[in-house]
Amino acid sequence: MYLLLLLVLSQKQTFAQVKSANGSILAATPPMGWMTWNYFADQIHEKEIMEMADALVKTGMHDAGYHYIFIDDGWQGGRDNRNNIIADPQKFPSGIKALSDYVHSKGLKLGIYSDAAPLTCAGYTASLGFEEQDARTFASWGIDYLKYDYCGAPSDAKTAKHRYKTMADALRKSGREIAFGICEWGDRKPWLWAAEAGGQLWRTTGDVRDKWKRRSEKEGGEGILDIIDVNAGLDQYAGIGHWNDMDMLVVGLNGKKGPSGDLGGTGCTIAEYQSQMSLWSMLASPLAATNDLRTMDEQTKRILLNKEVIQLNQDPLGKQAARKVNDAVWTILVKPLSNGDYAVAVLNRSDAAQTAELKFADLGLNEAYTVRDLWAHKTVAKGKKWKGQVNSHETKVFRLKNIKS
Ligand code: GLA
Repeated sequence: MYLLLLLVLSQKQTFAQVKSANGSILAATPPMGWMTWNYFADQIHEKEIMEMADALVKTGMHDAGYHYIFIDDGWQGGRDNRNNIIADPQKFPSGIKALSDYVHSKGLKLGIYSDAAPLTCAGYTASLGFEEQDARTFASWGIDYLKYDYCGAPSDAKTAKHRYKTMADALRKSGREIAFGICEWGDRKPWLWAAEAGGQLWRTTGDVRDKWKRRSEKEGGEGILDIIDVNAGLDQYAGIGHWNDMDMLVVGLNGKKGPSGDLGGTGCTIAEYQSQMSLWSMLASPLAATNDLRTMDEQTKRILLNKEVIQLNQDPLGKQAARKVNDAVWTILVKPLSNGDYAVAVLNRSDAAQTAELKFADLGLNEAYTVRDLWAHKTVAKGKKWKGQVNSHETKVFRLKNIKS
C-alpha cells in the first residue's frame, strides 16, 4: 500500500514538473515580471516595452526577482506567405527577435502571448492548427514564456485539455525551454488537469480589474477579494513547477489606463494594493506587475519591492498558503516555509478597522515564536499570540520563527 502511494506520488511529480537539459525545474518558483495588458491593453509598442525593461532594472525590480517582460495580446501582424506568424510592423518595427535580444542583454526574459483558437481575445492572429510552427518561431525569437489564452475555443474541458497539451508538446519539441501559462480563466477547473497537459501555471479566474471586489454578480472583471476567495481554497493543487495564477498585480495602476481604466474607477487604496501583494505572495501566485514602471511613486515601489514579502512568494518549498479562518471579518492564511518558519497573513475583510487577537495554536502553530511584521519590518511580538489593529481591507503579514530554533 505504502509502495503504491509512493508510486502514485512520484508519477504526479513527473507530469507536474518539466526539467530542462541541465536538470533545473521550469518555473520552480512562481514566475515574476511585468505584463503589458492592464496598462497598455493591445496598444503596445517596442519602444515602450524597452523602456519598461530599462525601468525594471533601474528601479531594482529585476534584482528583487521580477525577471520577465511579458508581451500580452496585440503584438501580432498576421502570417507571412509561409504561414509564419509575424509581429505588427508598426508596433514592432525592429521585430520580436531584436526586442528579445535587448531584453536578454539586460539579464531579463521575454514572454509572449497567443490563443488556442484562430483569433485571440482582442481579435489578433492566434495559433490553432499552427502550434508546432508557432512554437518553432517563438523559440527562434528567444521567447522564454508563452501565455496561451482560450477565447474563441469550445467550452468543454476535453477540447481545452487537448488544445493546451498540443501547444505544450509543441513547445517541448521546439528545442527551447519555454514556460507555459494556461489562461482559460478557471472555467474548466484547470487545477485538475493543466499540469498534466503541460502547463507550469494556470489562471483560476476571469480578468483582474483595479478594484477591491465586484459590486454585483453582473459586473465584469474580478476584484482582488473575488480572486482571493477562489484561490484560497486551491492550495492542494499548487507546488514546485505548477502554480495557481491569480492574474496581474494591479498595484500602482491607480484606476488609470488599460482595461482597468475602462471601469472609470479610482482604483484601489494603498491598503488594498498592499493586500494584493501580500496575498498573491502567500498564495504562491505568479507576480506580474502591470503598472507604468517608468513613473512609479514611492508607495507603489514600497509595495512591489517588499523583499521580505517576495521571499514568501519565492520560497523554495513551493507551498501555497492554506486558509485557516474565513468569516465575515477575517481571512487568515498560513504558509510553511523552507527553513521551518511559518508566514501568517491576517486580512480584515470588513469596512472598519478591527482588533485581532491571534492565538497561534488556533492556527495549528503550537510553539512560541518571534513574530516579525513584514510590512513594518520589525519584530512585534514574542510568544504564542499577537494582538493588534488591522485596518479595513488591510493585510498584516507575519513571519513566525520558533523561539527554540
Ligand atoms: C483575456 C485574458 C487577459 C488578456 C486578454 C487579452 O481576457 O484573460 O489576461 O490576456 O485576454 O486580449
